[in-house]
Amino acid sequence: MLNDMERILLSEEELKQRIQEMGNQISKDYEGKDLILVGVLKGSVPFMADLMKRIEIPCSMDFMAVSSYGSSTESSGIVRILKDLDFEIENKDILIVEDIVDSGTTLKYLKKYLASKNPKSVEIACLLNKPERRTVEIDVKYLGFEVPNYFLVGYGLDYAEKYRNLPYIGILKESVYKK
Ligand code: IMP
Ligand code: MG
Repeated sequence: MLNDMERILLSEEELKQRIQEMGNQISKDYEGKDLILVGVLKGSVPFMADLMKRIEIPCSMDFMAVSSYGSSTESSGIVRILKDLDFEIENKDILIVEDIVDSGTTLKYLKKYLASKNPKSVEIACLLNKPERRTVEIDVKYLGFEVPNYFLVGYGLDYAEKYRNLPYIGILKESVYKK
């Protein structure tokens, strides 16, 4: 799979260090609160798994699945819920855990949707941010890295469902998706 990468953007070690810092901050901020991490399937899975192990206060986890991209590299702009929450979230402190914020459509929609269920709070922890691509305004409380506008894969991010299992984040060669 390494052959399909233009280059590695974020190494396993860089990801690990930054996620440790994010976990420390979240542990401080949510001390004494009723924290539920809500992961967005499937891209957030590696980040969710690593982040939750760095959170040192009690918390529970839930998942949602939404569709945005299909198998192309451009967002459709339409968000559809494929899997809803298992738990009630009224009066809970919700932290949405997502891999990347691109146009912002997905997170904007999810935040509004979760807020409508009367939680005590809803915030976002997102590993990557592509600010150049933003079309809707969105407030990400915990952000891992700002990244340039390339199509990225690995550590949960896919191209046509592939590359999610890479332990690093790489820039996909254009020749792989522009055939
Ligand atoms: P948004 O709704 O445009 O912000 O899109 C967010 C979703 O698009 C993310 O959850 C990813 O699944 C996907 N996405 C955005 N950029 C990339 C990328 O560079 N590689 C892989 N998936 C991406
Ligand atoms: Mg995603």
